[in-house]
Amino acid sequence: MKKIAIFASGNGSNAENIIRYFQSRNLNAEVVLVVSNRTDARVLQRAASFGVHSRVITREMLRDQKAVMSLMRQYEIDFIVLAGFLLMVPSFLVAHYNHRMLNIHPSLLPKFGGKGMYGDNVHKAVVAAGETETGITIHFVSEQYDEGDILFQASTPVETADTPEDVARKIHELEQLHFPRVIADALLSC
Ligand code: GAR
Repeated sequence: MKKIAIFASGNGSNAENIIRYFQSRNLNAEVVLVVSNRTDARVLQRAASFGVHSRVITREMLRDQKAVMSLMRQYEIDFIVLAGFLLMVPSFLVAHYNHRMLNIHPSLLPKFGGKGMYGDNVHKAVVAAGETETGITIHFVSEQYDEGDILFQASTPVETADTPEDVARKIHELEQLHFPRVIADALLSC
């Protein structure tokens, strides 16, 4: 059984969708831990409601190699999924989970990636730039933010009348549709 940890900072709609996906299928993989850097993150309640353990770790704790690796060992984590995790992942974790850590980004990378580009900031930038399409990117995590090997992209049109909220809705639909399956495929080959 492959064991997955999800790192998430906020709402956790992706985390919930991933937990549901693996709980409802016989894929030899399960989400056993949710890690968040915020005590008030909704993702913590979502994890609890599916019986998944969670931990809150501060920015400082995240840099503590011994503590973080000991948590990963405690839950025997094979694979990490970043689902709206807004802190920089420390390099020791990236190195340990080389090609076993995925991130989802709400744009067609390399467009609209990099520092400060997360969540609604991305959708606002996409609309402001007059883009005619946007999408999601699922990629392996490397030391350079938003620059790891791309595993999957899906796109959606942006209409001239679309607001950032409209774009957010379209992105959310793409994420719900594709992210769990792409994780399952990546798990098979790691
Ligand atoms: C998702 O749209 C994800 O793509 C984005 O944060 C949102 C989290 O939503 N991630 C980034 O912007 C990373 N740079 P959720 O908490 O409801 O899953």
